[in-house]
Parts: sequence; C-alpha cells; structure tokens
Amino acid sequence: MLSHGLHYGTGVFEGIRCYSTDKGSFIFRLREHVDRLFRSAKLYGMRIPYSQDEICTAIKETIRINGLDECYIRPIVFYGFHHLGVMPTGCPVECVIAAWKWGAYLGEESLRSGIRCTFSSWHRIHPNTLPTTAKACGHYLNSLLAALEARKKGYDEAIMLDCEGFVAEGPGENIFIVKDGKLLTPDFSSGILPGITRDTVIQLAKDIGIAVEEKRAHEI
Ligand SMILES: Cc1ncc(COP(=O)(O)O)c(C=O)c1O
Repeated sequence: MLSHGLHYGTGVFEGIRCYSTDKGSFIFRLREHVDRLFRSAKLYGMRIPYSQDEICTAIKETIRINGLDECYIRPIVFYGFHHLGVMPTGCPVECVIAAWKWGAYLGEESLRSGIRCTFSSWHRIHPNTLPTTAKACGHYLNSLLAALEARKKGYDEAIMLDCEGFVAEGPGENIFIVKDGKLLTPDFSSGILPGITRDTVIQLAKDIGIAVEEKRAHEI
C-alpha cells in the first residue's frame, strides 16, 4: 500500500492486444509497445531492470501460461516501496505483466453503431507540464476527468483540446477524421500520445493511396 507509484502516479505502462487468427495468435506490434514502455520510463528517470528482449519474452510467456489465444496485455513498471518522499531514490522498480480477455474498449456495440463524443472542458496535459509522449500512470488523471465529464453529460467518450484550443485526442485514443478524401489527424505539437495504432493507420492509409495530413486543427 505504500508503493511510491500508488501515492504519486510514478509508473509507466502499455496496453497491448493479442489477436487470434486462423494462423495462430499474434501480438500487435509488440516491439514498438515495449520500446515505448522503455522510452516512457526513461522520461521519468526510471531504469527498468530487464532488457527489452526479456520483457517481450515475459509477455509471450504470460499469454502462453494463462492459455489465452486473444487478450489484452498490461505491462506496468512502477516505483515500489522504500520511502515516501517525492524523490523515489532507493525505491525498487517493480515490473508486472498481466493478461486477460478484454473485448472492444468502448463495448461491442460501438464497433457497429459508433459512439457519441463531446468536447471536454478539461484540456489535454501540456508538454511543458508533463512529458506527454510518456504513457505514464499519473497522466491518466487528466484522461479520467475528461471521460467522467463526458459520461456525466450522457456521451460515450470525450475529445480533448490542447491548451491552445486545437483538437488533441481522446482520454485513451488518438483521433482521425476523413475530410475531402484525406485522412487528418493532430500532429505531436498538441501533446498527444504517439499512438502505435495511429502510426499503423497512417501507414496503411499511405499504402493504399489515401492522403494523410498530420496537423493542428480547430475542428474535426
Ligand atoms: C491517451 C492515449 N492516446 C492514445 C492512445 C492510443 O495508443 P496506442 O494506439 O499505442 O494504443 C492511448 C492508448 O492507450 C492513450 O491512452
């Protein structure tokens, strides 16, 4: 209960999907997720006591041991207990990997009918305040406030603007729109998380000849 990570949000994590296909189970861009985990940790001066290869192997092992063919994987790395000063000096860096079945993030129905979103009065954290490219536990207080507000107003999800009023992202997802035959998405100056799905969507669109523009925009 006295883990530093619990008291100050000093942890970093990933959300990774493993999909079942007729050729077996495949983890979606495992290397990139593990690489982002290490980059997030570095931004908070946290040294993960394993190599990227070891974490990748442990993730695959966790899925295998739990007998899962399709699942969500949550590696989390956080400062454990040593003392509770804000500086985590001497706190051990704890690593945990969990895997379980988890369907569509916003529910199965959302895949068929879409979702209703509202702009949030909470702005996305600013890069001068927190390193927004890190997927860090404490950052999700910002996401939570936006999501709570949206649910209270009767919507499924929030859209957050950056501190200058440009569209940034959702509490747990990047945003795209299709406009005039082009795929538009905010660039990194809006303090968005560099999403791996976002990167994949951009690559796939380019592969099939759809123009993609990454830029700040007031509207979506
Ligand atoms: C704030 C935020 N933005 C974007 C994303 C999408 O990231 P990815 O596509 O790497 O899962 C997430 C995913 O958890 C997120 O929490």
